[in-house]
Amino acid sequence: MEIRILDEQAVTPEMDAAIRKTLAACFPLNQDQFAKTRQWRGNIPLFSVVARDAGGIAAHAAVVDRTIRVGDTSLRIAGFGNVCALPEYRKTGLIDQVLKRAVEEARQRKFPVGLLFCRDYVRAVYERNGWKGLPNQPCTRVEAGQEIPVGPDNPRMWIPLNQDRFPAGPIHLQGDKW
Ligand SMILES: CC(C)(COP(=O)(O)OP(=O)(O)OC[C@H]1O[C@@H](n2cnc3c(N)ncnc32)[C@H](O)[C@@H]1OP(=O)(O)O)[C@@H](O)C(=O)NCCC(=O)NCCS
Repeated sequence: MEIRILDEQAVTPEMDAAIRKTLAACFPLNQDQFAKTRQWRGNIPLFSVVARDAGGIAAHAAVVDRTIRVGDTSLRIAGFGNVCALPEYRKTGLIDQVLKRAVEEARQRKFPVGLLFCRDYVRAVYERNGWKGLPNQPCTRVEAGQEIPVGPDNPRMWIPLNQDRFPAGPIHLQGDKW
């Protein structure tokens, strides 16, 4: 199994289609969207990490480059999203290798912290990979010009990269989730 970093500019049409196929298989409710684009809520990755073998893309994570506000400061974050592994590669530790590689790459690219949104049923996956919850900081996203609270059913998790503390205060995403 080969694990690779792909800068967005280096994604060929064939690779794009292969990643979208895996995303559609892993996120069946969003199949229609992934039939057309990998962009989740309009976010274009800075880079993606793929685990690939002869059969295609077994596991994937995308990282977007965003600047958000936390309290009264702005914070550049590596936004992790579209994290998935095909069913036959789950419980093998493959996604841990992909996440580790993405974290290392984001650290090398000088991001202070990583941030992602998850669901309670996958929290443990991120916790075992060093991610921590932010349960006490309200979070606001913006969709079609409307400010919308991100609910507790969509927990925020962060990971230190080049900064070992997440700032205090309410989080405003200055845009939509990724
Ligand atoms: C998330 C994922 C990469 C984790 O892979 P993994 O670490 O190899 O481990 P698992 O697939 O066993 O997932 C860990 C737990 O999450 C649960 N889980 C994962 N995806 C789930 C989903 N879409 N709905 C409900 N539960 C889910 C698993 O049942 C498992 O629970 P268990 O430990 O009680 O058995 C993989 O499950 C996946 O691709 N899921 C679909 C896409 C997804 O939901 N991505 C996360 C977005 S935040």
